[in-house]
Amino acid sequence: MTENWIAPSILSADFARLGEEVDNVLTAGADVVHFDVMDNHFVPNLTIGPLVCDALRKHGVTAPIDVHLMIEPVDRIIPDFAKAGASIITFHPEASVHIDRTLQLIKDNGCKCGLVFNPGTPLHHLDYVMDKLDMILLMSVNPGFGGQSFLPSALDKLRQVRQKIDESGFDIRLEIDGGVKVDNIREIKEAGADTFVAGSAIFGKSDYKEIIDNMRAEIAKAG
Ligand code: DX5
Ligand code: ZN
Repeated sequence: MTENWIAPSILSADFARLGEEVDNVLTAGADVVHFDVMDNHFVPNLTIGPLVCDALRKHGVTAPIDVHLMIEPVDRIIPDFAKAGASIITFHPEASVHIDRTLQLIKDNGCKCGLVFNPGTPLHHLDYVMDKLDMILLMSVNPGFGGQSFLPSALDKLRQVRQKIDESGFDIRLEIDGGVKVDNIREIKEAGADTFVAGSAIFGKSDYKEIIDNMRAEIAKAG
């Protein structure tokens, strides 16, 4: 069975102490680092790029870095992220004219690849690329900001994608991003997710280990 991954989003970390924040959250039991890239064009916010990913690697971070591109276009910057130490690169289908080519570009650069679906984006983009995907990321908020509330429509979408993945027989992670908290992670798990992004729920709190432990305890209760 696929191992459950907790993926803290560094969007809510203290950027003035980013290396230390990432060390702390990994020591507290996180599995991967979720790295949100925004361009003030595809989404109305501006964050971090390959230089910061590279800086985290140079700082000594060895955990997988899960780069979530909320930028348009995507292709030009993919090799830069691969060189900077990205492990997984996901992008939104609306942001690439040639989805299949972009997925292949990510793989050719040695990273795992995935597609991200906004709350209003239909799932048909999956139809001809299931064999290429390592990850499917469903947004449970509209992308651009941390600290928003989980949109319940994501639960039904998770169930649909879980079924598609299971029927396909491919080894694809199902990640959820936005508004994930200790008190809703169990139903999110029950709907089919195995990779849980959480920004404000973790970095907003004083004890990261307590939150991550509580999240895992709730996941373990899922039926
Ligand atoms: C939103 C980002 C998320 C964000 C999640 O556009 O993709 O990764 O950091 O933050 P929370 O967990 O606070 O909703
Ligand atoms: Zn994200």
